[in-house]
Amino acid sequence: MANATRGLFIAGNWKMFKTNTEARQFVLELAQNNPTHPQVDAWVAPSFTLLAGTVSNIQQAGIRLNVAAQNVESALEGAFTGEVSAKQLKDVNVAGVIIGHSERRSYYNETNASVNAKTKTALAQGLLPIVCVGETLAEREAEQTDTVVTAQTLEGLVDLTPQQVATIVIAYEPVWAIGTGKVCETPEANRVCGVIRQVLAEQFGDVTAQAVRILYGGSMKPDNAEGLLGSSDIDGGLIGGASLQADSFAQLLAIAKTTVEKLETARV
Ligand code: 13P
Repeated sequence: MANATRGLFIAGNWKMFKTNTEARQFVLELAQNNPTHPQVDAWVAPSFTLLAGTVSNIQQAGIRLNVAAQNVESALEGAFTGEVSAKQLKDVNVAGVIIGHSERRSYYNETNASVNAKTKTALAQGLLPIVCVGETLAEREAEQTDTVVTAQTLEGLVDLTPQQVATIVIAYEPVWAIGTGKVCETPEANRVCGVIRQVLAEQFGDVTAQAVRILYGGSMKPDNAEGLLGSSDIDGGLIGGASLQADSFAQLLAIAKTTVEKLETARV
């Protein structure tokens, strides 16, 4: 993490896993061992059917854990069968939403334009957008990584003010590293997060770029998290597989806590 002000952001993307019983079990287990630090922002992103229950289980357990959805419709209401609006998410006290995950881009045809529309809606409705960017293996092999993430970042954030951009979270998730066990090497993950921050600085100004939290996602686990979270331009993780079990999620939170503490000590 580049600076103690940004802190670290640890978000578990549960994807299409867990029933309500399993989600409740996760919260109860995490409550037994929940390493917290004021500068570590902890989130889980369950499926729509689990959102209300998870919010209420967290409240009952009294733990510091925020809840995000995995998608949102950009329209506020209307005839959109199968979709869920920002207003409906707010209604069950959801605080954020993952937007433009690569699985949504590749399986559900989401584009930079739809990411932009959803991000605007989320911001207008008071949901924290976690905007995902990342190149495919073919794009990496064609040396298009920087071009792709630059376009995804700029086009996803079109027409936002620097003040709005300063509040959002961006997740760099190289598609080839998601669910494959192939983690992007730490220096390379940090370099691409640095490219994203540079692009933000050029478009929205340095103050904004320094405020944005940029996460790495793709096979992050307790055994590789320390290096990633300790890198100058990586402000946290968007974690799939390793977020599904309460004990490995707690280990990731503990690593984030230690990382923040080290940084604070270094600053004194
Ligand atoms: P894995 O951690 O399972 O690779 O998933 C990453 C991801 O897609 C998080 O959004």
